[in-house]
This record gives sequence, structure tokens and C-alpha cells, in this order.
Amino acid sequence: MDWLKTQDSKDRELQAELQQEGKLPQHIAIIMDGNGRWAKERRMPRIEGHRSGVRSVKDIVEACGQLGISYLTLYAFSTENWKRPKSEVVLLMGLLLHYLKSELKELDENNVRLNAIGQLNALPKNVARQLHESIDNLSDNTGLTLTLALSYSGRWDILRAVQTLALDVRGGTLSPEDITEEKFRPYLNTNDIPDPDLMIRTSGEMRLSNFLLWEMAYAEIYVAPVFWPQFRRDQLYEAIRNYLRRERRFGKISEQLLDAKEANDKGSYVRKVLDIFSAKKS
Ligand code: FPP
Repeated sequence: MDWLKTQDSKDRELQAELQQEGKLPQHIAIIMDGNGRWAKERRMPRIEGHRSGVRSVKDIVEACGQLGISYLTLYAFSTENWKRPKSEVVLLMGLLLHYLKSELKELDENNVRLNAIGQLNALPKNVARQLHESIDNLSDNTGLTLTLALSYSGRWDILRAVQTLALDVRGGTLSPEDITEEKFRPYLNTNDIPDPDLMIRTSGEMRLSNFLLWEMAYAEIYVAPVFWPQFRRDQLYEAIRNYLRRERRFGKISEQLLDAKEANDKGSYVRKVLDIFSAKKS
């Protein structure tokens, strides 16, 4: 199923409006929260919340693919989630396995690349096997990169990175005074993806919950007032609209950003004039 071909015209219009409003975030990271509460409110077992959460995953992945977002990272299972009742962990792993198998064809048809971060060897063997198989199958795709954070926590990754880096210092290939942000980054699980521009958390909670701690340094944070099963593409568009209204200063002041924008605008104006001029000459 080609997501672009099957998209309805109203949704296409909404996406086109967003694209015209400004530069969309290159990387969106999401803390999917509130599956349990969504189910509880409806007097359903928690697993029904997770099941409905998978439908949100599908809709958000599809919408990001259509919008041309380059990276989407989903916090699907944290290191701390292993402490949940065993029956819930088993059911979550089952849902993940089913998603990986049943969505493979559709992800491939839509040029999605799959990636995973976290302590993947802690996953049940069948899940880990399917995950690696799906990653391999989709590795030549060039569209959206979907990263699943599984058995992941930010502190775990930073500590792991520090341990590996310390081994390099001990081995003599790196000296402590040479350690910079750029030298440290390759040791992180997220080395091959850019930092998130926009971090969304659902269910109104204002916490990072040990997610992408290093990478989130300059992310814009948007807290959605709905549970994850209710977070569908319209809520995503609202989050992006809100992001587009913000000014990302990266520690600078507004005037500096305006100066840079003006210089850039002037530069592109001069380039355009030169292009016209050289076209006339040839
Ligand atoms: C948070 O809700 C959600 C999770 C811990 C798991 C998210 C998993 C899925 C949506 C399904 C599988 C994932 C993929 C990628 C197919 P919660 O249980 O913490 O909710 P609560 O805070 O209301 O209890």
C-alpha cells in the first residue's frame, strides 16, 4: 500500500499547509505515554491500551513518511519497563514482534528504514531475531528512518559510551584532554542519527523519563494533552504547528538570528541576480 497514493485529499491539504508554514523538524522523538490510563478510563485491560497504541504508531509513522520527515524515534520500551508485571512485558514483546512481522512489507513499500537503539541483547530471542531481520531487509531504503528505542535508557547509553571511551583511553588511542562533544558522540547508540529537533510526550506528563538525555540538549519539547492511543496524525500536526511557531536560538539572541537570516536572504538574492546575469550572457 503506497501511503501517498492512498492518502485522502483533506489530509494532503493539511500536510501541504504545514510544509508551507516553515521548515519541518528533521527529527521527531516521541515518548508514547498513557496506554494504561487510556484503557483504565474505558474499564479495559491495560493490554488494550497498548494494542490501540500500536494503531497510533502506524498512523504516526505513515504521516511522518508522507510529510517527508527524515527521522522518527519512538520510546517503545525503557530499561525500567522490565520491572512491570511479567504478563505485561510478555504481551508488549508479543505486540512488538507482531508489528515487526506484519508491517515489514508496508514499511518497505514506503521506503522506510528501520533502526533500533538500546540493550537489544536483553530482548527475547525471537524478538531480537525478527528485529535484526527487519532492519536488514529495510536497510537499503532511503526515506524515513524509524528508530525504535527498546530496552533503552539515556543514562544506560551514556554510561556504556563512557566505558567504551575509557577502554580507548586505556588502550592509548584517545587522550583525555582530546575528548570533545564531537569525539564523544560516536560512542553513543544514536551516533548515526541527528539530535531530535522536536520531542513529543503524550498524556500531559512533563518528564524526560531517561530518554535521549544527551541528544535532547536543544530539542523543543511539546507535551500533548491526550493519551498515546488518542495521539493520531491531527495531534501530530498540532505539535508540528506549535514547533514551527517557536524560535530556536541555540543560546544566541533573537537579533543574531535575524542578522543571520538577513545575510542568508541577501546572499540568495545576490546569487539569483548573478544567475540571471550569467544566463543572459550565455
Ligand atoms: C506507555 O504507556 C507505553 C509503553 C510503555 C509501551 C509502548 C508500546 C507500544 C505502543 C506498543 C508496541 C510498540 C511498537 C513500536 C509497535 P503506559 O503503559 O506507561 O501507560 P500508563 O502510564 O498510563 O500506565
